[in-house]
Amino acid sequence: MRQWYLAGKTISAGQHGEIVELDRADEAVLAGEQGETKQKMLELLVALGKVFGAERLVPIKSAQVSGASYKTIGEYGLDWLRSLNAKAVVPAVLNPIGMPRGRWEEMGVDPGFAEKQNEVVAAYERLGVRLECTCTPYYLYQTEFGDHLAWSESSAVSYANSVIGARTNREGGPGALAAALVGKTPCYGLHLDQNRVPGIIIDVAMPNRKMGVAEFGALGYHAGKIVGNRIPYFRGINPDRDQLKALGAAMAATGAVALYHVEGVTPEAKPAMVSTYTEIASIEAAELEALFTDVPVDAVAIGCPHCSAGELDELAKLLHGKVVTMPFYVFASQGIIDANQKTVDRIEKSGARVFADTCMVVSPVMEQFSAIMVNSGKALAYVPDMCGAVARIGTIEDCVAVGTE
Ligand code: F3S
Repeated sequence: MRQWYLAGKTISAGQHGEIVELDRADEAVLAGEQGETKQKMLELLVALGKVFGAERLVPIKSAQVSGASYKTIGEYGLDWLRSLNAKAVVPAVLNPIGMPRGRWEEMGVDPGFAEKQNEVVAAYERLGVRLECTCTPYYLYQTEFGDHLAWSESSAVSYANSVIGARTNREGGPGALAAALVGKTPCYGLHLDQNRVPGIIIDVAMPNRKMGVAEFGALGYHAGKIVGNRIPYFRGINPDRDQLKALGAAMAATGAVALYHVEGVTPEAKPAMVSTYTEIASIEAAELEALFTDVPVDAVAIGCPHCSAGELDELAKLLHGKVVTMPFYVFASQGIIDANQKTVDRIEKSGARVFADTCMVVSPVMEQFSAIMVNSGKALAYVPDMCGAVARIGTIEDCVAVGTE
């Protein structure tokens, strides 16, 4: 007879309500046949499934685990990680941590913090999580339309759902780690077709504004406040992939947007998704202009989310023949840095530094500055609270101009 799991005990099929269907392999894990850690992790997934009304678990292609910076998890989180004993069964990476693992001294990270951060990383390595600490796992793993994932970081979740057409909820750190160790996640929310339908149309009118990454970040910053937790359907814009990355990251920061559609651009967007009853909001250029200020800054930080190869190349060209006059940070995944080392060398010739594993928001080093210039709508939203600094958004050209003036 088919078995189901409810509140810690197995029940018969046919009962409805808060049930999560399990297969025989899952039942063996729940019985503790693969160790206590996996048993507890599956119990966690089942509990999450019950809370959110999942009827079953779905196998995942990869996991991305937040809760990797010692700045955010502290000693309690580290103790919990040390207590676990299992191995990831799907490709899994970490979210950015508090420092570049190979260059933390150069970045000026406190040795005491570095020691704790290294313990966190070692704990994840023991669990089989790949030590690539990035919010852009889609540059590392082939992630395809329709893939089910368990990713944590909000911009990565937004990109996977919206730009690739993969399916993931925004997992908490423990939920993503549990999914990595079990290889499955509860099938609810954005894993299901019916929950991927837009709830609001955003008509964008920017007739005279050249739209680059910073402008799409600003658009996302503004749109996220309008949209909240609904799924927006954009009309009137034609962003490329880096610009979509910026748009989604910012909307996830000021709103709770884990999926958006752009008509004619993103893979699931179809005009038939919206009806005459769908609420319409409009955004015009003047609403974004107000976000671009000229407050003085004492550092520049690029790479939120982590830079693509194309973004590094653009920056290298802009910095060619120039010397930075203030701390100028660039963040990218180690995989992208390794694959584009010559471009990175060209950037660093200016005095700018390209760091892996960390970012302007999770590294404690950024707390030393009073005002930071960024080209990211997400950083514009997070830097004030997370770094205690004023944030100024500008185009990549403006960032280079200010950082080398
Ligand atoms: Fe990534 Fe850090 Fe920004 S995690 S999206 S670079 S805040």
